[in-house]
This record gives sequence, C-alpha cells and structure tokens, in this order.
Amino acid sequence: MDIKAEINRRRTFAIISHPDAGKTTLTEKLLLLGGAIQVAGAVKSNKIRKTTTSDFLEIEKQRGISVATSVMTIDYKGTRINILDTPGHKDFAEDTFRTLTAVDSVILVVDSVKGVEDQTRKLMEVCRMRATPVMIFINKMDRESKDPFDLLEELEDELKIATCPFAWPIGRGSRFKGVYNLMTKRIQLYQPDKSARAEILLSTQNIEDPELKKVVGQEQMDQLGEEIDLASDLFESFQKNLYLQGYLAPVFFGSALYNIGIHDLFETFINIAPHPLVTKAAEREVMPEEEKFSGFVFKIHANIDPNHRNRMAFLRVCSGKFERNKMYYHTRLNKKMRFAAPVTFMANTKSTAEEAFPGDVIGLYDTGNLKIGDSLSEGEDLHFTGIPSFSPEILKEVVNKEPLKTKQLEKGVRQLTEEGLAQLFFQQPGNRKIIGTVGELQFDVIKFRLEHEYGAKCDFRTLPYAKAFWLTSESKQELGAMIDRRSNTIAFDKSDTPVFLSESDWMLKIATEAHPGVQFHTTSDLSAKNKDD
Ligand code: G4P
Repeated sequence: MDIKAEINRRRTFAIISHPDAGKTTLTEKLLLLGGAIQVAGAVKSNKIRKTTTSDFLEIEKQRGISVATSVMTIDYKGTRINILDTPGHKDFAEDTFRTLTAVDSVILVVDSVKGVEDQTRKLMEVCRMRATPVMIFINKMDRESKDPFDLLEELEDELKIATCPFAWPIGRGSRFKGVYNLMTKRIQLYQPDKSARAEILLSTQNIEDPELKKVVGQEQMDQLGEEIDLASDLFESFQKNLYLQGYLAPVFFGSALYNIGIHDLFETFINIAPHPLVTKAAEREVMPEEEKFSGFVFKIHANIDPNHRNRMAFLRVCSGKFERNKMYYHTRLNKKMRFAAPVTFMANTKSTAEEAFPGDVIGLYDTGNLKIGDSLSEGEDLHFTGIPSFSPEILKEVVNKEPLKTKQLEKGVRQLTEEGLAQLFFQQPGNRKIIGTVGELQFDVIKFRLEHEYGAKCDFRTLPYAKAFWLTSESKQELGAMIDRRSNTIAFDKSDTPVFLSESDWMLKIATEAHPGVQFHTTSDLSAKNKDD
C-alpha cells in the first residue's frame, strides 16, 4: 500500500471528558466494536479516582496501567484507528493537554445529568486553541438527564462551539429506548446490555413501522416527532468543512454503559473524522505524504521496572515512513539515533513496530536522550510547534533532606520534570529549585519516585506564589530592568527564559503596569524552547 493510502485510512484521536463522564466505558465499547477486546471490563480505567494523597502504591499501579493503555490501535473495516488515552485526574491535566497535540480530532464525552463540567471547559479551550475537530457524545441518557435541547444550548454557550445533532434520543431515563439518526433517518431500538454488544431490537427507516409503535408507544413517538422537527429548525445543518475547522461539533446521544448510540457515533467518526493532516514546525509546514520521515515526542513515561532506568518516549509520526533500525536525526541533540525495538500498541498489546506511518504513535525505549517536544527527522532541522507547557498554579521549593545524595536528587528532579510531570524553575541566589504543577498530587508522586527510583529524599517548602508567567520582550533592556527590580519574584525555567512568580492577581496587575514593554505568557511552547537548549 502506498503512503497516501496508509494516511487516508488512519484516524488518530483522543476521547476526553471530565472524570466520571464515561470516557473509559466508551473507550471499551469502541474497542469491543472494533473487535480488539472480547469482553467488557478488559480496559482498566486509567485514572486515579479513589486515590488519596498518601496512596502512593496506587499511584504506581495506575502508572503501570496508563503505560499499557496510552495508545490503543485497532483495525476496523480497513480503517486504522489510534486511540490516545488521557489521564482522567485533573492534577494530570497537562499530560492530557500535551496528548491533544498528537491527535487529529477528539470525541468529547459529556455526562447528560451533569452537563458541561470544569474539565470539559478546559479541554475544549485547548481544542479551540488548536482548532481540533470535535465530536460530542452525550452519555448516560439512561439516567434522569437534562433536557436534550437544554444540553445542546449549554454546550454552545459554555464551550463556544456550534452544535449539530446527528442522533436524537428516544426518551430518557427509564424511558430511554434508543436513538434516531437525523442524517440517515434510521431508528434503532436497543435491548439494554451492560456486558457486551447491545442487541438491536429494531432498526428501521420507516417511522410508521407498527413494530416501532408497539415498542416505543404512541406518546413517545409523538414527542420524538416534535423534537426532531424542532431540532432541524434550531440547529445548523451539517457542514463538514466547519467540523474540520473546529467550529461545528456533531453531537450524539446515548449510553456507553448500555451500549446505545455507540455504533452511530463510531460509523460517523470513521466517515468524517480527518486523517492525518499538516503539522506545523517552526521552519515550515510538514505534510504527511512527504517522502521523508519526521515525528515528535509528546509524552515520556518512566519504566515501571525500577531495575531498568529506561523510559518510553511516545512519538507521533508526522510524515513519511518510520522504519525500525534506520538512522534518524535528533534535532535538538544534533545527533543520529537508531531504534532497534520500537513498539506499537496493536489491539492493546505491545509488539515490535517494523514500520509506522503518519498518525501512528510508536513507543521508543530511551535512556534519557528524548524530551517532550523533541523531533526526529531524516536530517532536516524541524521543531514542531504548539506543544504547550501551562502556567503552574502550585509552586514549591525543593528542600534536600540528605545533602550526601544531592547528585541523585538533581538527576531525579531533572528527569522527572523532563517527563512532563511538573515544571522546574531556578531562582537566585543559591540556584534554588522550584517545582511548579497544576495539582497537588504531583508533589506526592515526585517525592515517592525520587525516593524509590533515585534514592533521594526531599521535602517541599510551600511558596506564596499563585501563578507563574513566562516573560518576553522586544527590548532586552526593559526585560533586564524588570528582572533586576523584581529579582525576588523572578525565576528561570530550564531554557533560561525568565518567569515572573506572582502572589496574586493584584501583584500581577502592578507588575504588568510597571513594565508595559514586557509580555506575560501563561503558556510556553516546549518545542520552541528545546530549539534554544
Ligand atoms: P471516566 O473514564 O470518564 O472517568 O468514566 P467511567 O467510564 O469510568 O464511568 C464512570 C462511572 O459512570 C462508572 O460507574 C460507569 O459505570 C458509569 N457510566 C458510564 N457510562 C454510563 C452510562 O451510559 N449510563 C450509566 N448509568 N452509567 C454510566 P462507577 O460506579 O463509578 O464505576 P463501575 O464500578 O461501574 O466501574
């Protein structure tokens, strides 16, 4: 098969949601449909839901699970589907955001009872920033959900995206019977089945079908008719180009648990979701069908086996064909590298990847050469852009508890922050190390892993800062003046970019007003930073 055909048959996406909306359940049902697993319950939930902050072993266990489910590849009717998993816990949101740089589209799961939640909003913000095409699955229609029209309005208002219902629920709560596909006009009634593939009771395009009336009842049929008429008046007709540009989201209603509405969602996804497209690099735009291979690292995972300090880097192929054992060029280190045992994640099991095409994600064993944002190519200097690092909201100083183990501590802190677990800043005088995260849980993970993997003990001293802002300016002088004047609230990241540590919104306001020539940023671009390393 030529490379164009390989690209066209690939769909690389992530299923994202606020924790508990049903991401894991939906993923599992898609895998069942794709034949990758045979029984429900085979996909372990990649989340740290019930973890208390002291439950380190649980964190470790979860890390193991998340390696296994980081990428799930299935072949479905000739389409190669790469599902990239994202952690559910909000403290690991940054990991999710970075994973979103490696997908071509997303399916957003929303709980029909709760509607739009905190994480839903944040995830959607990242999708909007990157103009990622979004499909929405409104889940748990078997529960006493909100009204479908209200839900669509809420999505539009809160997520700032136009919606286009593709499937309409027939009843809800205990009266939920199935879905009406507004595009194909097909009604599907289901026999709820929690454990495996739902039985389709009836599938018809004839709304007058007597069997249909018998199961659904006249009252519910009348209601459905009214709702469908209203929906076609109220909502945008589907325009694929608007979906592909990230402005319009096809919406499906259903129940992941009872396997209702999943088939319509999946079939539509395969038909309209984009195949791998252009990837932007600082130097130029890279097209997938280019002959030469290129790709970038978006996630690093330390190996679970403490005896082997190697890590796995997850690389998304952007162009050309990746081949095992071929020499590739590591842009940041300016050196050639060869990968003897790259891994693919076909049908949820790891196996050696002989080759990989654009859209694919491969796991590369690494002993510390690869960082998030790094790119590999066949010799060209490429720095893929838009791999964000988000402004941390909790900042703590690392306090070494065992001065004799300083080296181990430094190495551990460096490697763990390179993994993307947290961000590292340095403050003078004394080269103090400050760790910044978006959640408290990371500090427990770091402390635990420093001790178990590096033999170093540390504590964290809480600092009074509420947020960090990366600073840039056209005028070196102005930036220098600000750094001098506010040295006690200035730190530097690993690329030596100055960062302003703000104690409050008020402090931020004062600083921005005092230094109008300096720009304050809440995100920094990792790939661009790696370029300067
Ligand atoms: P997440 O990955 O987004 O965090 O959510 P997950 O799929 O784990 O689902 C969270 C809870 O919601 C689970 O219940 C799951 O069974 C339930 N759920 C998912 N989809 C549906 C649905 O369509 N209808 C209903 N009624 N429930 C649904 P749990 O009790 O927390 O876990 P479990 O013990 O059932 O695994």
